[in-house]
Formats: sequence, structure tokens, C-alpha cells
Amino acid sequence: MSKIFISCALPYANGPCHLGHIRSTYLPADIYARYNRMIGNDVLMVCATDEHGTPIAVKADKENKKPIEISKRYHDMIVKDVESMNISLDNFTRTTDKAHYDIAQNFFKDLYEKGLIYREDLEQLYCDNCNKFLPDRYVEGLCPVCGSQARGDHCEKCGKALEPTELDEPHCITCGNTPKIKDTYQYAFKLSEFEDELKEYISSNENLPANVKNYATNWLNDGLNDWILTRDMDWGIPVPLDGAEGKVLYVWIEAFLGYISSASQWSKQSSSKWEEYWNDYVVHFIGKDIIYHHSIFWPGLLTAYGCKLPDMIYAGEFLSLEGEKMSTSKNWVIWIADFVKDYDPDLLRYYLTINAPLNKDSDFSWDDFQRRNNDELADVVGNFLHRTFVFTKKYFDNKIPEYNNPSAEDEEFRQAIEELPDRAGELIAKYEFREALLEIFKVAKKGNKYFNDQEPWKAVKEDMNKAANCLYLSNQLAKTLAYTLKPFLPTKADKIAEIMNINTLNEWKDAKVTLPSGHEINKAKPFFKKIEDKEIEAQKAKLKENLKENEDETMSDLITIDQFDEVVIKIGQVKQAEKIEKSDKLLKLQVDIGEDKPRQIVAGLAKFYSPDELIDKKVCVVANLQPAKLFGTLSEGMVLATGESGALLSPDENGKVGERIQ
Ligand code: 2FM
Ligand code: ZN
Repeated sequence: MSKIFISCALPYANGPCHLGHIRSTYLPADIYARYNRMIGNDVLMVCATDEHGTPIAVKADKENKKPIEISKRYHDMIVKDVESMNISLDNFTRTTDKAHYDIAQNFFKDLYEKGLIYREDLEQLYCDNCNKFLPDRYVEGLCPVCGSQARGDHCEKCGKALEPTELDEPHCITCGNTPKIKDTYQYAFKLSEFEDELKEYISSNENLPANVKNYATNWLNDGLNDWILTRDMDWGIPVPLDGAEGKVLYVWIEAFLGYISSASQWSKQSSSKWEEYWNDYVVHFIGKDIIYHHSIFWPGLLTAYGCKLPDMIYAGEFLSLEGEKMSTSKNWVIWIADFVKDYDPDLLRYYLTINAPLNKDSDFSWDDFQRRNNDELADVVGNFLHRTFVFTKKYFDNKIPEYNNPSAEDEEFRQAIEELPDRAGELIAKYEFREALLEIFKVAKKGNKYFNDQEPWKAVKEDMNKAANCLYLSNQLAKTLAYTLKPFLPTKADKIAEIMNINTLNEWKDAKVTLPSGHEINKAKPFFKKIEDKEIEAQKAKLKENLKENEDETMSDLITIDQFDEVVIKIGQVKQAEKIEKSDKLLKLQVDIGEDKPRQIVAGLAKFYSPDELIDKKVCVVANLQPAKLFGTLSEGMVLATGESGALLSPDENGKVGERIQ
């Protein structure tokens, strides 16, 4: 028996869980944990909410609340979300827990005393307007590597971990000010000293998946810098050194230690030693965006501390929604709490697992969710189980019949059932969860075909032995499905077990033990309900209604002066105006903006102005908008007005036609 330490990446306590969290981290970790428990391994699965750092501080600033109020609110929500998805964590704590502070501060002191953390004078970004340093997410700008909009700590686009001073065109996310460089000091970790050890760790670890190995190898080949472990801010764990007043630990160093503090809290409650699990086998389930941290920073810190390194880092790729990138600020997202109000969590567990392997990007679409539920779960798995149980009741008095003189088809089917637990188990052990589920599904499909081919409804009249063999084997498959589906669909699997009168689904090996003839089962109940088109249409409509067309909140809604400069706004004068046929909103205008001839502009002003009222009016015009056709009419610009009341922006009497507004 092995002891296995499983961790799920710590979610920031600045929002509830959505589908992406479940897909990349919690669900694969849970499948792996449940399977390992069933094969007799001793599993410790831990997580916690990540409650410090700028993600929470920025949110608190926005809401004018204390950071702890924010993190408590979301901690409570996240706990509920994770429970509602039946993620079988052994412990879930918070990084604001006192014991976590002690562990993090002691870890830091240990490395400092070993001379592996040193004080460094440096220059950091400071906002004169807000009177504070701008660590991490307090500043945004352009990624120096790929040029995309990036936060001070990380570029989402190319995955690079960043220092705020590396950003091009930085600005303070609170006030938009361009920060200045100011002297300060921080404490840095000698990460560069561990380059060779880390190279060896990444190259010699056969188990690491390709995405983790490739990213880490590329980063290591670029060479490592030392890593600054402290910040000038109020919210966080104080740096436990004299002379470091006003400084806190960088959220990432202590977030890793959340794995340890959660495990150690569990140890105290269970009187088992978490170290035994760590020293045997450690697997971290994470999302792809934090591969750098887990393959470089964390093993670096652990090597420095003198601790065994993780055996496995499993990084789930991204999940999109209806083909578009998920965005929490635009509300282009499905929250777990909303999903489980309408659907059984097992349906989501099924969909997210079967839809794509974890190491490939995947998409959630409501239509596809409906299709997989209806055509696969309901039509194949549900139908097979239901027919088996209904027939067993009707023709065999709810008892598993005898199995005698099997035909070649019977034996072939029996063999497929017998082989299923090993096949599926081997795949789960290799983290190939989708393939394992496909294997299970394949045999369920075979079960339906076998049932159809054997035609037990005819056989009961003509060849009772044939009917008995069919129902005997179908019941064996139903039982095997209960066991093998348990890691994936725990509640549905329990329901099968309940109908089949099997006490527990604790041991994987029991999947292979045949149920004896004469074993009595309970009354059948339907397993999977078909999802109707109208429900799916309603879900899609809800998603669209909730969509907020605002900027991504993770990126601030401030634009730079250069961005503003790209918009050319000029003073114009309306020369002609007329209605556009069949439209009650649009007017076709000819607007003089000081060019050779007037611009034709279609404006949504018909509800607010008659064409005559607009003639000679001075207006503001966006002059460099790409031309577009509206109601078949070419529009070569935009007249600025408010959307709701149609109030026109007009220059005062000084404004001359053709003048640029800036
Ligand atoms: O990226 C994130 O969401 C971090 N909160 C993950 C931390 S994982 C670990 F180190 F604890
Ligand atoms: Zn500022």
C-alpha cells in the first residue's frame, strides 16, 4: 500500500468557483484520489483558500472593505462549491489561519538562517498619487516578452512570471498614474543557485507530463534569476525579521506552504503524520497557468529547505465556454453554484472528463452538454441499467438468474466485463481519466448491443436459458459499472449500488467479484433524465443576458493616453438628414468634418430627433472608425451621443468644423 499526498492548487479567495476550476484541478484530483482509495492506497487530499496578496487586496480596495472580509466571504462560497461537486478533500483550510502564519514564517526563517535568503536594495514601482509601492497586480502594462496586456506579476498570454519593473508602459491600477521608480529593499531567494538541481529534477523525472516538462525546460534554458520573496504592503504575513517592518511575504511563497499547513492541520485532527504521505508520493494538480511556479519556484524552495520534491505535477489545460475564453469580470462564465441548482453535479463531472483529455484545451457548450447527457448517459448507460433492472424484476423476480451453457456471444461479453476494471484502473493510474471513462462507456455500449442481440423479451418465451444468461451478465456489468464509475460519477454509482443491493463501493477489486445467482436486487429507478431543448435554450439565453460588456476586471479599465490618442474625434456639422426606410432608430446624415466632401454617417438618433432638427447642428464625430453598412447604408464614422436619451455631444461656439478634439 502506498501513501499518496494529493493537493489541489489553492484558489484565490476573490471569487467563487466556476467550471474552469473544476475542470483543471478539483475534478481530476478527485478522480485520482477516489480511485487510489478504492485500490487500497492511503490518500491525503488537501487544499485551502489562498487569501493574501494583491488579488484579494485589490478586490477589497474596490469594494471599500477589509481584505479579510473579502476572503472570508469567498472562502465560505468556495467550500460550498467544492462540496457540491463532491470533491472528497480530507482537509480544506485557509492561509489566514494562525498555524499557516507560523509555518510560513518558520520556513522563511529557515532559509534566511541558511543564507539562502538575502536582503537586496532595489528599485520598485511607486505611485505618487496613491502614496504606495505597486507590487504585483497593483500595476499593469505590456508584457516585455509578448507585448500583450499583462499584470505586474504574470502575463496570462504567454505564461511568463514577471516583475512589475519589467512591464512596458506601466500604470497604477487604482488611479491610472504612471508610477515612478523608488528605492526600497526586499528579501530575495537564491533561486539561481539551484539551477542545476532543478534541471536534473525536470529532466530525470520520467513521470512529469509533456506540458510541464517542456515549459520548465524552456524556462530553465533561459537561466534563472533570484526570486524576490517579500513585498511592501499591509495585507499578508509579516516578514519575521528585524528591520523588515511593513513588509510581508510574497503570496506565492506562502501559498505553496498552504499545502503543508492544510496537511498539518489534518494531521493534528487525525493523529496521522502528513510527512509519511509526502515522503511516499506527492502529486500536485494545478492549472496550466501556474506551471512555472510549481515546476521552478516550488521545487527550488523545497530543495533549499531540504525536502523531497513532488513526484508529479499534473497541469490541466484551459476550458473555454461556448468557444470563447472564459472571463469572470464579463460574467462569461458558469458558476458552480448556479450549475448545481439546475443539474446533478455528476453530469458535469461526466462532461468535463469525457470532453477532452486534461492535457488538451477543452470547451463547454450547452448544446454539447445536452447531447452527451442525452445520447451517452441517458441513451447508453441509463438505458442499459434500466432495461437490466426492469427485466430482472419482470422475469426473474428481482433475482440474478443462473448462468449456464453460455454461447460464444455470452462468453465474449463476459470477458469484456471482466477486463474492464483492470483496463480502466490502469488508465486512471496513468492520469488518463478521459480514456478510462471512454473504456467504461465502450463496454456499456457493448452491453446495450448485447442486450438487443439477445432479445431477452423473445427469449423468455422461446429459450429461457438464453434470457437468463443475458440478464445474469447484464447484472454483472451493471455492478462493474457501479464500481468503475464511482471515481467519476460518485452519486450515480452509489445509486446503482443501492438498486443492486451492494453495500459499499469501497474496493476496486470487488468490481471483479461476480454477484451470485439468486442475489436479490431492489426496484429500478430511472438514472438519467433527458435534457430538453427548451432548458438548453434557457441556459444559453441566461448566459448571454448575464454577459457584461465591460473590460476584463483582471485588467483595469483604464486606458493609456496613447490608446486614447488612437481615436480621432472631430467637430462636424450636419448638412443633410433623412430617415432610413424600415428602421425606426436610424437616420442617414451627411456631416461636414472639414474634408473635401461630407461624410455619410448612420446614427441611431431617429427616436430623439426629427431629421430637420439636426440640420446645421454641430456635433462630435469619430472620424477614424472603419466604415460599416447599417441597414444596407454605408456609414463612415460615428456621431457621439448617449445611448439612452440620445443626448448629442455638441462643441460650444468656439468649435470650428474639422477641428480635432483631444
Ligand atoms: O493562481 C492561483 O490561483 C493561486 N492562488 C494558486 C496557488 S497554488 C499553490 F501554490 F498553493
Ligand atoms: Zn495610484
